[in-house]
Amino acid sequence: MELDKRHIVLGVTGGIAAYKAAELVRELQRAGASVQVVMTHAATHFVTPVTFQALSARAVFADQWDDRIGNNMAHIELSRGADAILIAPASADFIGKLANGLCDDLLGTMCVARKCPLLVAPAMNRQMWTNPAVRRNVAQLRTDGVTLFGPESGDQACGEVGPGRMLEPPAIVEELVAFFAPRLLAGRRVVVTAGPTYEPIDPVRGITNRSSGKMGFALARACRQAGAEVRLVAGPTTLPTPAGVTRTDVETAREMCDAALDACAPGCDIFIAVAAVADWQVTNASAHKIKKDEVGTTPELAFAENPDILQTVAALPNAPYCVGFAAESKDLARNGEQKRRRKGVPFLVANIGHETFGCDDNELLLIDEHGMKPLGRASKDELARALVAEIAGRLGKPATGSGQ
Ligand code: C5P
Repeated sequence: MELDKRHIVLGVTGGIAAYKAAELVRELQRAGASVQVVMTHAATHFVTPVTFQALSARAVFADQWDDRIGNNMAHIELSRGADAILIAPASADFIGKLANGLCDDLLGTMCVARKCPLLVAPAMNRQMWTNPAVRRNVAQLRTDGVTLFGPESGDQACGEVGPGRMLEPPAIVEELVAFFAPRLLAGRRVVVTAGPTYEPIDPVRGITNRSSGKMGFALARACRQAGAEVRLVAGPTTLPTPAGVTRTDVETAREMCDAALDACAPGCDIFIAVAAVADWQVTNASAHKIKKDEVGTTPELAFAENPDILQTVAALPNAPYCVGFAAESKDLARNGEQKRRRKGVPFLVANIGHETFGCDDNELLLIDEHGMKPLGRASKDELARALVAEIAGRLGKPATGSGQ
């Protein structure tokens, strides 16, 4: 799992977003981390320590005079061995405290006494977030090497709309994974196509391909976590956008081609075509629903071939490094290699088997000019991370080491 063996001290401060910290504990655990919760007194007004104790299966601390730690040095003991202290939600007050190194409670003292990285997910009303004093304190945190996750813009608990909303727990976990991930694609620009395309026959019917979009979205997430700037061009899917990824939604292959070319134009380094693109579009699509009783007979559909997006991008002057995907039903290796050559791409990833549609698992065969390499069955997230390493290796960029 992405956060296996990571130990995180989760600092919860006093804001209404504290209720989301309970879900965050679960998400962190799901990703493999162990979690020690430390709260400010204000936070205990929003959520009780019992909630966090039950979820984390560890005693929760809020008081610097707590005598449950033998040497009375909770501020030292609780963060030793931690991979990071994550403050979520971080109130304006606590950010001010961090910016000034104040030690008047357990969590503040622990942050000053820490040996590990400090990560902060702010949560506050939009007026507070834009207040000059808060801006100053946030700038000071950045100068001090503190990493900020969010905030995002949106509906606020007070009824207002604007910046200051805490990232949702899954997005915070994604940011955390990215923080620890090797920065294999730092400074790279990546465009990923994902999902199916949809070619209308009439306003209610269409032709599509089987694709959940999961592999493409996992790759977009993994590229972003490896430090790349990622643009995702997605066909119809209900999957959530990976944190920090810029997404363009499209429907038809033509739209996907235009969006991909647009995204590739300004200095894209890597193009990864994961989308299952419809090979044909219906040229005599009807503007109105085709009625069975009005047509009287089976409707005749006329088709025209869609552009091959991957081949088009690969043929661009100054083309990015192109990675294709292939779903073959037989002769995977031979057909995969032929496809790689035909499309003019250096690297092709073949799906082994068809039962992977919509699943969370997959099995891949990597094909390049030097030969083939299987990547055994694993989750799409794990395979995506392995693929990022393979792509980074082929680009010849030496690994710059892990974020931490
Ligand atoms: O030819 P085939 O559809 O099997 O090729 C698969 C690869 O080509 C995938 O990477 C897919 O995203 C890409 N492709 C494309 N545009 C098309 C058809 C396929 O980019 N029209």
